[in-house]
Amino acid sequence: MYQRPENLNEIQENNIFSTLHDRRRRSKEGGGKKRIENQHKKGKLTARERIELLVDENSFNEIDSFVTHQSTKFDMAGTKPYGDGVVTGHAKISGRTIYVYSQDFTVFGGSLGRAQATKICKVMDLAIKTGNPIIGLLDSGGARIQEGVASLAGYGDIFYRNTQASGVIPQISVILGPCAGGAVYSPALTDFVLMNKENSFMFVTGPEVVKAVTGEEISFYDLGGSNVHSSITGVCHLVGETEEDTLDLVRKLMAYLPSNNLNDTPSDQHLLDVNTQQNLRELIPAEEDEPYDMKSILGIIVDSDSFLELQEDWAKNIIIGFSRLNGSTVGIVANQPLYLGGAIDFNAADKASRFIRFCDSFNIPILTFVDVPGFLPGIKQEHEGIIRHGAKLLFAYSEATVPKISVIVRKAYGGAYIVMSSKHLGTDVNLAWPTAQIAVMGSEGACRILYRSKLIGVDNPEQILKEFTEKFKEEFANPYQAAELGYVDKVIFPEETRNEIIVSLSILRNKREQTPRRKHGIFPV
Ligand code: HXC
Repeated sequence: MYQRPENLNEIQENNIFSTLHDRRRRSKEGGGKKRIENQHKKGKLTARERIELLVDENSFNEIDSFVTHQSTKFDMAGTKPYGDGVVTGHAKISGRTIYVYSQDFTVFGGSLGRAQATKICKVMDLAIKTGNPIIGLLDSGGARIQEGVASLAGYGDIFYRNTQASGVIPQISVILGPCAGGAVYSPALTDFVLMNKENSFMFVTGPEVVKAVTGEEISFYDLGGSNVHSSITGVCHLVGETEEDTLDLVRKLMAYLPSNNLNDTPSDQHLLDVNTQQNLRELIPAEEDEPYDMKSILGIIVDSDSFLELQEDWAKNIIIGFSRLNGSTVGIVANQPLYLGGAIDFNAADKASRFIRFCDSFNIPILTFVDVPGFLPGIKQEHEGIIRHGAKLLFAYSEATVPKISVIVRKAYGGAYIVMSSKHLGTDVNLAWPTAQIAVMGSEGACRILYRSKLIGVDNPEQILKEFTEKFKEEFANPYQAAELGYVDKVIFPEETRNEIIVSLSILRNKREQTPRRKHGIFPV
């Protein structure tokens, strides 16, 4: 006869707890030892190792670790790894909460099926509801082939949430492996895309499809590697040498961002070392067309070592990035005379306008440094749509209601004067250095047009042109006509700039601006 063991409760209890123990252990196995070894052999970290590197020590709190796919086709019922190829949860970065998902390439190549998509959507929803940033670490073969349209639906659900979250919480995508097919559109919808130099790839159609359709042969790297997306397409904002570097860059970037569109940006009082401002005078060349590095000027004015440049190698004629003044985050937009003389081309307009919109959504003041000879002339520029792209920049500056401050350093010519945060687009504080030249166009070009008839038939046209040009410069190539009209609020010595900006930022802190009631404007995309 059956005898009830005296310690039955204990046995049951042990079973109950060991089941959870066992499940937890299995949920950490991913695709198994061999696939993890393969991942390491490729120089890649696992999904969990990446999260550990990204977040504060012991702060990761995983959810949904027992989720499995429900697919039965292609013998899938026999392989149901816990977690379904993505690790999700919340954690802290520098003490602030973030939500994170990290695709696990060792499970079905990190491919996205219904269950994985539902997990990602859950953390996105939580991030939106709780007002915390979402960070995705992507390493995936794309839509899970075995699940068909269910996996496509999963992508659709993610894209929808990316769009709903836009302007509400910062969204950061870190590409640490393949990101192929339609899957690229989630990162493309987010605010910042970071790539790892060697091992990350993004393309809509891979090398094999390209070869089949167009006959072109190209490697993964040359088609969609970090170099392509950081210097040609502009998809990528920051590139890390290694995965560790890339994840460290995410932490650096986070330090400038608020948790959501209603929170303040974190301030950092550690970088209050101030550079000697007197040196600024020496950085502007005497010759008006001589190039110089605008970054050397920025580096002196902002808090020491606080400038984090974004999209550094794309559209180099305009500089964008975050920095700090007196410890507070500002977004910087600046012409770069070292490239194309600082002229605005279609890529520069795209680059700056998107950044301005990010700053505006997240209450980050926009600080603009101007040295621009105009829009870049040329058939390519006209035919590639400089009209449409340039309009984006006008729109972005005009619609931005955050504090806007501009400093005209040297040239501010023609339409580019207007577009680069002029008073006419609602900029709050417009400053100019004595070296500023605010005019319809460059002095010599203007004189060639104005005095064309006087230069015909004379013996020494170049000498006469030079004289006219000198006179014109005295009259117009300065900031004083604009100051007389109130378009420039103040002409300042370069060494006064930092202080003027800090005072302006504090005055503008409580700025409120009403915009007309409407659903939304039509951004000229
Ligand atoms: C299911 C996949 C998969 C996928 C890879 N795997 N991609 N399983 N669905 N999409 C599996 C492989 O079968 C393999 O399983 C494991 O992941 C590792 O793959 P490998 O090919 O061995 O790795 P590697 O040589 O590093 O190559 C990685 C890769 C390649 C370049 C990503 O796997 C690949 O080309 N995959 C297909 C990419 C693709 O075309 N995806 C669909 C895009 S269309 P085992 O069991 O052997 O470990 C798309 C539509 C989205 O995504 C639409 C949104 C709008």
